[in-house]
Amino acid sequence: MRIAMIGTGYVGLVSGVCFSDFGHDVVCIDKDERKITALKGGKIPIYEPGLEALVDKNVREGRLSFTTDAAEGIKGADAVFIAVGTPSRRGDGHADLSYVYAAAEEIGQLMEGYTVVVTKSTVPVGTGDEIETILRRVRPDGEFAVVSNPEFLREGAAIDDFKRPDRVVVGTEDERAQEVMRQLYRPLYLNETPIVFTSRRTSELIKYAANAFLALKITYINEMADLCEAVGANVQQVAKGIGLDNRIGGKFLHAGPGYGGSCFPKDTLALTKTATDAGTPLRIIETVVDVNANRKKAMAEKIITACGGDVSGKTIGVLGLTFKPNTDDMRDAPSLDIIPALQAKGATIQAYDPEGTHEAQKILKDIDYKSGPYETLDNADALVIITEWDQFRALDLGRIKQTLRTPVLVDLRNIYRPEEVAAAGLQYTSVGRPD
Ligand code: UDX
Repeated sequence: MRIAMIGTGYVGLVSGVCFSDFGHDVVCIDKDERKITALKGGKIPIYEPGLEALVDKNVREGRLSFTTDAAEGIKGADAVFIAVGTPSRRGDGHADLSYVYAAAEEIGQLMEGYTVVVTKSTVPVGTGDEIETILRRVRPDGEFAVVSNPEFLREGAAIDDFKRPDRVVVGTEDERAQEVMRQLYRPLYLNETPIVFTSRRTSELIKYAANAFLALKITYINEMADLCEAVGANVQQVAKGIGLDNRIGGKFLHAGPGYGGSCFPKDTLALTKTATDAGTPLRIIETVVDVNANRKKAMAEKIITACGGDVSGKTIGVLGLTFKPNTDDMRDAPSLDIIPALQAKGATIQAYDPEGTHEAQKILKDIDYKSGPYETLDNADALVIITEWDQFRALDLGRIKQTLRTPVLVDLRNIYRPEEVAAAGLQYTSVGRPD
């Protein structure tokens, strides 16, 4: 099958590359000249394990190419995917669909023969209808179907998530389009991955409902962690104790500094807007959004308390800046709330992140960026772990104790055991566990 993928952000690039690895011919299109030139030269604009090698392989084998010329990809394509950004519209949290609609106009002008137009971007309910209207206006005689096919991949595990998903959701009632989608996902079909066919509106909502539920689950365990701290219980054991119930499940029950990233914050907010506009407010998700925002702020207070109630004139070493490990993505990372709050209270910050420094430098100012975890300890009064990169999981606790000016370790991801930290002579603050 011939595929055009419009947008080479996270979702577009990973989906395009993986479809080409399934054996389809894929042309990835982006307006950003620099990005396309870099991709043509084998340079990947994001950090995602395994992506560079997979791009390289499929380009060499002739199934994958990059262009700024939409016509090159769209003319004669069996399926055109829209994977452009849908940022929060400034001010009100609604998803900004201008890039999606601009892509639809372009597709309308260029498509040839029966074309399946697929939204991979996360788009509010009803966006598919609007795309159909645009296509019909631009090409009154066009043969096409508009399909919703949300992507559930996680950053840092994107290739694996795409190639071994729990399910594929396809929103269309057009049988010809269903057949095209089956062909596109044939390798997964053969693997018996469930493919759930729904109406287009249902499919659009499934993506938001999934992300909101996961955000809710994280927020639930985060609030439970606060309660654990207040009553002397252990949140990890609570998570295990409830997670073994199959109806609950043990995943996404790691208490931490609050969720971030490119999806949960944006999608929970957009879903609450959709629900309010539809006259059926989602009060639970509104609360999740609020609780999570407050939590990120509260983490700075937790650190200040661990430092004896005052960080003015103190130096704090920070490990991990990205919203989670294995990505360089800083979008809505808890560090963006925590670090400025500490600085506002007079702290000096020195930090290290394995892949995120370049992105962090653009946003977080007045930080002394270090070249490794132990370098963040020099002349520091406390060490704070914000993101649980693997390389922070087995640090030499004795060395940390010896190097820090005062032996304060704050671990916002619970990656150490309180006993081992205490044995090393460090004062330990973690999340939802007796210290
Ligand atoms: C998420 C969804 O998982 C994915 O299906 C969707 O397509 C995009 O959004 P992603 O944002 O890449 O993926 O990261 P994810 O691993 O889901 O983590 C999101 C945030 O939740 C991170 O800030 C992470 O640290 C936090 N988190 C996750 C927790 O605090 N605790 C957990 O138990 C799990």
